Amino acid sequence: MPWDLIRLNSGYSIPSIGFGTWTLGNGQGPIDQVEQALDSGYNHIDTAQSYRNEAEAGTAFHESGLSRADVFITTKYSGTNGLDIDTSIHNSVTNLGIDYVDLYLIHSPRLAVPDIPTAWAKMEKVKEAGLARSIGVSNFDAKDLQILLASAKIKPAVNQILLHPYVYRQQLPILEVAAANNIVIEAYSALIPITKLPGGPLDAPLDEIATRLGATTDQVLLAWTKAKGAVVVTTSSKKIRLQGYLAAGDIELTQEDIDAIDAAGALGEKRMNAKVTLRKLAAGALVGAAVFGACSYFNIRIL
Ligand SMILES: NC(=O)c1ccc[n+]([C@@H]2O[C@H](COP(=O)([O-])OP(=O)(O)OC[C@H]3O[C@@H](n4cnc5c(N)ncnc54)[C@H](OP(=O)(O)O)[C@@H]3O)[C@@H](O)[C@H]2O)c1
Repeated sequence: MPWDLIRLNSGYSIPSIGFGTWTLGNGQGPIDQVEQALDSGYNHIDTAQSYRNEAEAGTAFHESGLSRADVFITTKYSGTNGLDIDTSIHNSVTNLGIDYVDLYLIHSPRLAVPDIPTAWAKMEKVKEAGLARSIGVSNFDAKDLQILLASAKIKPAVNQILLHPYVYRQQLPILEVAAANNIVIEAYSALIPITKLPGGPLDAPLDEIATRLGATTDQVLLAWTKAKGAVVVTTSSKKIRLQGYLAAGDIELTQEDIDAIDAAGALGEKRMNAKVTLRKLAAGALVGAAVFGACSYFNIRIL
């Protein structure tokens, strides 16, 4: 079985690859794309209140003829229009045209208002009301998770986070808290190293592994994410790529492959951090020069 189900701490299971609707906009386009994904064999849709295409995802699901039990549907509380969690989940299930979502997430810790414990207690009520089978969070760091866990009656089933080899090391504290509490990690934007950050240290090992396995580099990145135990949330407008992602579930990376990707990822992360530091220093120097220039102009002594 290429992409197995992963058991959640709620007792339900989540398909380990999902199709995301973030960038699809609204109207007929996302309906067609979600339908294409379902036709291609995806059985897990990831949407959010702020993507503004829950209704389209729901239409595609209903038009697919699949039964409710066959498709795992996630949506997120994004604080859209200033609505609270209770109002938002009712709107979301109505938009989707279903009675319950499989997974309901707080999209970001900054949306957990007035504070994380209070917002999480509202999420627990959503689950108790049967509107979500599992509840979880997204973009929570290790400290946010600890705050939540300190008061939770129900542990979050997942934390959906940015995860790819260039951020793997910085995300490790989150992975550790999640593992210790049986919280599944969902990885989004796993393909960033090739879509947004090509030309980095990962290019060489990804190309080498892909060529050796007769795969594509996006497939190797998804296989790496799977090897880290995370659920993949990805997307594509192209059927051929959607099929390729599914086929990536059969790719078995060796420990050497994983180590090579980890090492290149860590190198890229160091370079990115160095660039950010340099940019901050340069910005600081510019501000300093501007202040010094202004002081000289106005004859103000600063030393
Ligand atoms: N919780 C959160 O805060 C959060 C944040 C971001 C994303 N997400 C979720 O994760 C989903 C996926 O996010 P993402 O779009 O950032 O993920 P991704 O999986 O990193 O990227 C998918 C994109 O990569 C492109 N792509 C794939 N292979 C490629 C290749 N070989 N060369 C060039 N382009 C390639 C695809 O374009 P084509 O259409 O051309 O194939 C597609 O648009 C979202 O829809 C959303 O559901 C959640």
